[in-house]
Amino acid sequence: MTETRDRVTVSSPANIAFLKYWGTREPRQVLPYHTSISMTLEECRSFTTAHALPAEALPNGDQIYLAGDDGALTLAEDDFRARARAHLDVVRETTGRTERFRVATRNSFPSAAGMASSASGFSALAIAATRALGLELGTDQLSVLARRSGSGSAARSVVGGFVEWPAEPGEPSAPARQLADASWQLADVVAVLETGPKEVSSREGHRRAPSSPCFERRLELVPERLATIRRAIETRDLDLLGPVLEAEAIDLHAIAMTSEPPIFYWSPGSVEVLGSVRTLRLDGVPAWSTMDAGANVHVLCPREVEGTVARRLEEIPAVVRVIRDHVGEGPRVEDGLDLLA
Ligand code: PMV
Repeated sequence: MTETRDRVTVSSPANIAFLKYWGTREPRQVLPYHTSISMTLEECRSFTTAHALPAEALPNGDQIYLAGDDGALTLAEDDFRARARAHLDVVRETTGRTERFRVATRNSFPSAAGMASSASGFSALAIAATRALGLELGTDQLSVLARRSGSGSAARSVVGGFVEWPAEPGEPSAPARQLADASWQLADVVAVLETGPKEVSSREGHRRAPSSPCFERRLELVPERLATIRRAIETRDLDLLGPVLEAEAIDLHAIAMTSEPPIFYWSPGSVEVLGSVRTLRLDGVPAWSTMDAGANVHVLCPREVEGTVARRLEEIPAVVRVIRDHVGEGPRVEDGLDLLA
């Protein structure tokens, strides 16, 4: 058993946003301008072991490692280590505890390439660290804690299925909640175009977003899009969902490209993939694209056609890898796995 009171391994999934969170209204609390909606994935996960120790045992602070596929541990690079430590400070502040942590983490997918690795990574860290302290927080508390890592989308990864992170004016820091469980079997076939870290972080993208002339216009469109996406999820209607999915992705990137200074997350391959998804539809395959803050393209389709979609994407030379993922149940404790061992 991995789960003793002070050492726990958790895996938490990435999610793909249908209605994007883009633009931070209040950075400290990580409050968005509006509600966002996503689908929690299953295969793209972060695996994180946290070991809580008395503060005296780690006089130099929390130790943060990356675990390789062979099990070897390397010290995380400065930027990542600083973010993880800052998040562990929030965990200590929230729980009133003083323990420090040894943490090892690895992803099942390319990090920092528009694949929401921060959402899976920080939700996994929030859950593993609190469990290592012997606490079993509820989903609401974990959602708020995960969000306070600075990755707002982490708030949605603690919940399975189709998830809404509400941002109503009177209730600005509400936890994410499930709109529908994972029984609508949608696939997310990801065309991976770039595997390295992106040049401009989403945190910086959120900061710049309101400087775009497109930002206000999208805010006006959000209420109707939210209503459509909620209805599409409720009635399992991909034809209703698809056009809003694509419009949301294009708008996010239009805002990024017209921010001051502009941010270009797309690569030539992204345009090619978007075009081939349109062609797939003309061929009668129900498939719709979306993109987060990166060059990769996520193609949403029923699971019955994911093989057809994956084969088409694999034919595109710019596509380095195709990941077949689908809606999932959310985080879980990984008994028998210990990345610090
Ligand atoms: O959670 P962050 O700060 O990494 O921002 C996520 C932003 C998008 O992935 C582009 C959109 C979203 O809602 O997930």
